Amino acid sequence: MTQQLLVYVPPHPLIKHWLAVARDAATPSVLFRSAITELGRWLTYEAARDWLPTQETVVQSPLAPCAATFIDPQVPVAVVPILRAGLGLLEGSQTLLPLAKIYHLGLVRNEESLEPSCYLNKLPEKFDPETRVLITDPMLATGGSIMAAMAELTQRGVDPALTRIVCVVAAPPALQKLSAAYPGLTVYSATIDETVNEKGFIVPGLGDAGDRIFGT
Ligand code: PRP
Repeated sequence: MTQQLLVYVPPHPLIKHWLAVARDAATPSVLFRSAITELGRWLTYEAARDWLPTQETVVQSPLAPCAATFIDPQVPVAVVPILRAGLGLLEGSQTLLPLAKIYHLGLVRNEESLEPSCYLNKLPEKFDPETRVLITDPMLATGGSIMAAMAELTQRGVDPALTRIVCVVAAPPALQKLSAAYPGLTVYSATIDETVNEKGFIVPGLGDAGDRIFGT
């Protein structure tokens, strides 16, 4: 079977609600931050469904032995927030994945060329090939940043099939690039928007997520 990029937009009222709050230009920073945290939580919940490794065992309930499923502590789980805006989603992800290691990756787009450059890289030299990796970044626009992040990860041994991207708004140019380069990768997004304008902003999008989260 040919692998292809999977993009899920979970039809969940909480995801729709917090997306609406985040999209609204009248939402102040403090509420915008909460909205992104909530989206991080619910999208991570959805992304973890077929991604978090589990192990079957038997536990003794107060009444009888019974089959039970635990999260497998032997399989490494990593969250890679793309700074700055990915930090907003990280908070919600971390509450669901308290044992995950966090590897920060700082990428910023040049405002004219829209090319990303890396100013912080806390990735290890090599990942265990079994590592489940969750990347957080609210926006996939031209796709330059997420492609740079995927290149850094895969050259360190990360398997795209074990990788989940959690974002809020995904745009077609980014999804096309990911699809061509990483079939087998899975994206969880609150929405897919129509277009990216000449300044690199997703339309309708939610503006500059990093600026709105941090108020700077
Ligand atoms: C934004 C966003 C993504 C990137 C998306 O970050 O958070 O990382 O742009 O654009 P692309 O798909 O065209 O690469 P930005 O560079 O504004 O940095 P910030 O998170 O620090 O605000």
